[in-house]
Amino acid sequence: MRLLYLNGPNLNLLGTREPEKYGRTTLAEVESLVRVRAATHQATIEFRQSNLEGDLVNWIQEAKGQFDWIILNAAAYTHTSIALRDAIAAVQVPTIEIHLSNVHAREEFRHKSLIAPVCQGQITGFGANSYVLALEAAVIGNPH
Ligand code: DQA
Repeated sequence: MRLLYLNGPNLNLLGTREPEKYGRTTLAEVESLVRVRAATHQATIEFRQSNLEGDLVNWIQEAKGQFDWIILNAAAYTHTSIALRDAIAAVQVPTIEIHLSNVHAREEFRHKSLIAPVCQGQITGFGANSYVLALEAAVIGNPH
């Protein structure tokens, strides 16, 4: 099982960025948590972050044939990016949308996800554990 974790804009600032919303765990620490859990499932992890929408689009396109799942925290692009949505739809690699915070409990503009309709599902509001829960969902696989 090969999993590609993609992180969008400002997630490089985790740990110091609005800790009351996103916690004090850094992105490197989130990655470590995921790696520990992945090892118990014999899953391999690639973990990337970019502030650039085009990088995320390129990485999604390149995932085809390379990864079994994409786990995507698109950050603010969740709410704005048709390009990311189209990339996910195009490559047909099953994708799980994740967020640290519960986007539905926040400002109204965060309630709308442009990527949700082309994702397998959404995990939102569990802090760093959203990343780990997505791994568990991928390992369990598609129940349909
Ligand atoms: C986020 C939620 C988004 O609305 C926000 O723009 C982020 C982080 C989260 O993980 O809670 O940057 O994706």
